Amino acid sequence: MVHVLRRLLSVGEASDVVAAAPPVSPREVFRRFWPYTRGGRRWFAPIVLFSLIGPALDATEIWLFKIVVDDVLVPRDVGPLLWIAPTYMGLILGSGILGFADDVTSTWVSERFLLTLRSDVFRHVQGLSLGFFERRRLGDVLSRVTGDVDTVETFLLSGVADALYYVIRLGVFLGLLFYLQWDLTLLALVIVPLFWRAARHFSRLIKEASRERRRRSGSISAIAEESLGNVALVQAYNRQKWEERRFERENVGRFRATMASTRIRAVYGSVVEVIEVSGVLAVMSLGTWKLAQGQLTLGGLLVFLALIGNLYSPVRGLSHLGTTFYAASAAAERIIELLDQRPQVVEAAGARRIGRARGDLEFDGVSFRYPGTPSWALSDVSFHVAAGETLALVGASGAGKSTVAKLQLRFYDPDRGAVRLDGTDLRDLSLSDLRESVAVVLQETLVFHGTVRDNIAYGRPEATEADIVAAARAADAHEFIELLPEGYDTMVGQRGRTLSGGQRQRLAIARAMIRDAPVLLLDEPTTGLDARSGRRIMDPLRRLMAGRTTVVISHNLLTVRDATRIVVLDQGRIVECGAHDDLLERGGTYARLHRLNALTGAAPAGPSAPKTVLP
Ligand SMILES: Nc1ncnc2c1ncn2[C@@H]1O[C@H](COP(=O)(O)OP(=O)(O)OP(=O)(O)O)[C@@H](O)[C@H]1O
Ligand SMILES: [Mg+2]
Repeated sequence: MVHVLRRLLSVGEASDVVAAAPPVSPREVFRRFWPYTRGGRRWFAPIVLFSLIGPALDATEIWLFKIVVDDVLVPRDVGPLLWIAPTYMGLILGSGILGFADDVTSTWVSERFLLTLRSDVFRHVQGLSLGFFERRRLGDVLSRVTGDVDTVETFLLSGVADALYYVIRLGVFLGLLFYLQWDLTLLALVIVPLFWRAARHFSRLIKEASRERRRRSGSISAIAEESLGNVALVQAYNRQKWEERRFERENVGRFRATMASTRIRAVYGSVVEVIEVSGVLAVMSLGTWKLAQGQLTLGGLLVFLALIGNLYSPVRGLSHLGTTFYAASAAAERIIELLDQRPQVVEAAGARRIGRARGDLEFDGVSFRYPGTPSWALSDVSFHVAAGETLALVGASGAGKSTVAKLQLRFYDPDRGAVRLDGTDLRDLSLSDLRESVAVVLQETLVFHGTVRDNIAYGRPEATEADIVAAARAADAHEFIELLPEGYDTMVGQRGRTLSGGQRQRLAIARAMIRDAPVLLLDEPTTGLDARSGRRIMDPLRRLMAGRTTVVISHNLLTVRDATRIVVLDQGRIVECGAHDDLLERGGTYARLHRLNALTGAAPAGPSAPKTVLP
């Protein structure tokens, strides 16, 4: 029997697509989320008032019923109905108006709460360092920002409002019952401890099931986001079935958890009913005896039984609320875990504002390791780029080139050494000033869902139409944009899928162009372009680089030749450094790379040279 019951109430086996958040006590949940109620607190008093008036009206209604039985039905006298009928009507109208006011205010308060909390969670997550997003599954984060936030509301507001409502009802009806028949009331109360015991036991089970359910929801979003986001890869490699199975596994997990929680609730509902009916039966037996003894009128007994129903309903409500509370706290834990994430990169207290930087950039003995990895991505890297100069970073894949770019943007802080802009350590610099000073064209071109115009203006939202066209012209993008169906108003799909690689790249160059920042960071600006397109963006790139400090990362030695200095990285270390001709003469790594480049046909001026990828 116990075994069957346990099976019935178990949640199912765990999986680990998304880990469960650490448990948090209800008190802590309150402490954390209370501040978000600030906008709605002035409505708390009216809501309490409504919950006071409500039961009073209900009690009056029941009282009228007693009068109808004892003064109208039993003596068969219509007279009192003359005042009872209009009073009853008035009560019903009053309840209606009260219900309306109560609904509107409490919804307002809880929706305000959600508004503040959701914006705040979003702001917080957006402020987290790149490292967080490189480790976490985006889909799970999304499900926390959307789904879990909603559930927290039931914990804090609806939950508390309901609790208050129940407690007040309990008080009112208990008082009335004691006033009517104290001995019957005491008998009715005997079962209350049983209610609590059942509630405690079942809420624990509910909490477990809810936790599992929230976690599975996160996994479902994570998998959906990953497979739908990479749909081209999935289809090209025929992995649809596999992805479906992965998705289904989590879906089934959520299904099981939901079913478990439904079973738990249903069993709980029946248990509660049994307890309740036994209470009512006990009261009824004693009541009938008192009726027979003439200590009680029929109306009195009926009213008492009706009131008992009203007494049990808040008790039941309160114990049910326990289970809702626990379900909501499972969601709260996931939000709290998110809110507890601290950005690894934070602006120093007295961060220096520099306004527009000159663009003097320096890496001084920089060593860096990605959090949680054993090997150094960069070790003891030093170089200096004076304002207006161009530095090229070359090296094999995985040598640490993009890592240099991330440190330069202060997406991470170095473990040793320092990165400086205009002689100031980036850690002492205002983050927004730093990022204001740098324009980037990254290895993966980032394009937003929106019009071509929006995408260019993203670099400087206040840019005028003329600025946008000028930037597009300089980036050699104007022509192709004009040919798009709606020109600058053409929508580019999410991640710019409706554009070609080269077009996306030129859009990114236009965006960097319009930003007009003193420092320019180009990570593989010719990625994904064939030789002709690669050469085609050389001119716009040169225009972009003119007069700015530029760090260009490239496999393509074409882009590198113009650089004032070339730094060759190998496994996070600088192995060579110098101008193009010097390095060729030295006959080291760079010369070898260059020779390879020439061999594969990507000699600097070769008209149909394919894009070269170094080993
Ligand atoms: N977020 C990360 N977490 C942990 N390790 C990372 C992370 N990003 C990069 N690495 C590791 O750091 C090393 C340097 O990576 P980086 O991206 O800087 O290489 P790269 O020179 O830009 O290569 P490519 O030319 O292929 O773009 C690699 O070994 C890589 O595996
Ligand atoms: Mg890279």
